[in-house]
Amino acid sequence: MKVFVINGPNLNMLGLREPALYGARNFEALQAYIRKSAEELGVEVELFQSNHEGAIVDAIQGAYGRFDAILINPAAYTHTSVAILDALKAVALPTVEVHLTDISTREKFRQFSYVSLCAELTICGEGFEGYRKGLEYLSKKA
Ligand code: DQA
Repeated sequence: MKVFVINGPNLNMLGLREPALYGARNFEALQAYIRKSAEELGVEVELFQSNHEGAIVDAIQGAYGRFDAILINPAAYTHTSVAILDALKAVALPTVEVHLTDISTREKFRQFSYVSLCAELTICGEGFEGYRKGLEYLSKKA
């Protein structure tokens, strides 16, 4: 099972960014956590982060034929991007959506997710652990 892990805008600012919400650990720590979880679960991962919507669309398109599944935290694009939703639908790979925070209890504008319309599973509010749970779910699909 080869999973493409995509992190959207501002997640590269973890640690510095609103630590009361997103925690004190930085993006390198998140990447290390994802790699370690993947290794323990016997899943192969490639990690990608971008602050640009089009770059994320390109990356999703490029995943077709190369990966078995996608784990994505689309960050702010969760709530705005029909383009990312359409790209995910186009490649039609099993997709898990993850959010560090519980978007269902935050501001109204964060409570709707375009990506949820095609994700098999959405994990919210579990911090780094959500990525592990997403990988675990996907690992069982192989
Ligand atoms: C986020 C939630 C989004 O609303 C926000 O824009 C993010 C991070 C999360 O992981 O909790 O950048 O996706």
